[in-house]
Amino acid sequence: MLLDKSARSACFREPIIPIVGALIHENPGTISLAQGMVNYGPPPEALVKIESILKAPEIHRYGPVAGTNRLIELIEQKLAMENGINAGQGSKIVVTAGANMAFASAILATCRPGDEVIMQVPCFFNQETAVRIAGCVPVFTNTTDSFHIDIVGIRNAITPKTRAIVTISPNNPSGAVYSTQDLTAVNLLCGELGLYHIHDEAYEYFTYDGNKHFSPGSLKHASRYTISIYSLSKSYALAGWRVGWMVIPSEIERDICGIQDVNLICPPLISQQLAIHAMTVGSSYPKARLGELRDIHDICKRAIMTVHGCCVTSGEGAIYLIINLNTQHEPMEVVRYLIRKHRVALLPGHVFRLAGCQLRMSYSASSRREIELALERLVTGLKELTHG
Ligand SMILES: Cc1ncc(COP(=O)(O)O)c(C=O)c1O
Repeated sequence: MLLDKSARSACFREPIIPIVGALIHENPGTISLAQGMVNYGPPPEALVKIESILKAPEIHRYGPVAGTNRLIELIEQKLAMENGINAGQGSKIVVTAGANMAFASAILATCRPGDEVIMQVPCFFNQETAVRIAGCVPVFTNTTDSFHIDIVGIRNAITPKTRAIVTISPNNPSGAVYSTQDLTAVNLLCGELGLYHIHDEAYEYFTYDGNKHFSPGSLKHASRYTISIYSLSKSYALAGWRVGWMVIPSEIERDICGIQDVNLICPPLISQQLAIHAMTVGSSYPKARLGELRDIHDICKRAIMTVHGCCVTSGEGAIYLIINLNTQHEPMEVVRYLIRKHRVALLPGHVFRLAGCQLRMSYSASSRREIELALERLVTGLKELTHG
């Protein structure tokens, strides 16, 4: 299915982050629980290195397409230690300008126009758009009531045109942490049927209550057909620096690097250098922030549950909660109302393909004080809307 220009521009019909961003801008004082960010900064030990990073003349030049050797080496060590992935045995690491870019390149490198890509609902809207602009067809499979993988549903969705299955865990937007068993089942299915398993681990450190993070790329033989995607945006608070990477089967390295060469030439050297310093601090950095995030998560859940007409997801991980409202209003109508009348912004659930009136709340972007204020506003607004 080749896209003409108008079909391609239709893929960008509702760019929700800029739309909600404009509403926030028009309503000064709005607290944003919309975009997914963390409320802490990058490791100070890394930031103090910036001046010396800038002094190296090569930082201002182009670098290798797939990333610098030093960063790749560090990533290799991290993957072996934390994820059980031995990159290099049939697989390669490619550093990208963030996980979003890694996903888009992965689709371009593995799928032909018209191919089908199975995505779990709720799904991350940027990934759906990336599939569509590649001329591919997203095929949506429902998750269970608790937003976990429905392996039977996935099996039933497979056709001769299926090329890849996408999973995200911990999940944006549901916060579900997929079990080792479910991710293994998806991965083995891909292996059995000759499909790619594209797995996004952008929130790998953000799990609560003993929910364990699992990397399906660590399974035996998985390196042949698994693309594992990572990001430093949330874990090390480097969203603006644009650094992520993917572990890919060696057989697609040439295409991935070709795509990256056209789009980026090379990941920004200064960002890679800062990433090296951040990753040298290590994952104790994001993990030390989990307790505070967990407290904020609990405060949010408790507050929302006081509204009669609302229920909220269990929030096993990531930085999001989904609020389900018992109301006839459209979710975007609710978002506009909450911003204009109560100065608090969330994202509407329909952009994640959630049915009915559901909202995604990002509870990690503000301080506890700000979140408490946002919650007062939100609860008042939700009570008005649901008569709860
Ligand atoms: C599941 C998921 N993957 C990727 C990204 C984007 O990550 P990056 O900033 O590394 O492009 C996000 C951002 O919200 C996300 O939720």
